[in-house]
Amino acid sequence: MTAVSPAATFRIAPSILAADFARLGDEVAAVEQAGADLLHFDVMDNHYVPNLSIGPLVCASLRPRTRMLIDVHLMVKPVDRIVPEFAKAGANIISFHPEASDHVDRTIALIKECGCKAALAFNPATPLSHLDHTLDKLDMVLLMSVNPGYGGQQFIASVLPKIVAVRQKIRGSGRDVWLEVDGGVKTDNIAQIAQAGADTFVAGSAIFGGKDYGAIIRDMRARLAVV
Ligand code: DX5
Ligand code: ZN
Repeated sequence: MTAVSPAATFRIAPSILAADFARLGDEVAAVEQAGADLLHFDVMDNHYVPNLSIGPLVCASLRPRTRMLIDVHLMVKPVDRIVPEFAKAGANIISFHPEASDHVDRTIALIKECGCKAALAFNPATPLSHLDHTLDKLDMVLLMSVNPGYGGQQFIASVLPKIVAVRQKIRGSGRDVWLEVDGGVKTDNIAQIAQAGADTFVAGSAIFGGKDYGAIIRDMRARLAVV
């Protein structure tokens, strides 16, 4: 893997998929208090991915409970009809998978017309050629480091060179595009993922699976500080 210089700013995005859904508002408040930057909101439809999670109603309920940006990760097909619903529900960033949209450029435009930041999400085996005609319009690239559908899976290490490649493309674009990595991110691999070029880290089970969210996020930041 060719090394690239790491990003200047790092963001930690707890995935509420791993939170206690019976106490969701309190869980969101707890990770915000613990120093999280974004709230990662996984939307699964039992069609594009084999699981069913939460939708715009839950996003709208959480919106007044947090000042964090809400980072909606759509694992749904079709994509377009749910985008305005999430924008109305208070989403700030909306990611979608190119395989789930018939017209990727149109979906990116729709997300922006709705007032949100647009991101394209890549499964571990999705080729980066999808960035060829989209990177100039994107605010973020989401690289999945597990196959989507479930939390608590193991980080797929073959995604590391992909992170390097995307960081190089972003540098080449001259634009400020965030690079988020999602799946199996833990305190013991976050530095390596940052070293590859990620700046935004989704962590579900690593944060909500622990007792002291603040200590876990502080540990993650300490490991990022020496990258
Ligand atoms: C997987 C989701 C991830 C997941 C991350 O489809 O997109 O955001 O919740 O969970 P962990 O950090 O437990 O792998
Ligand atoms: Zn996700």
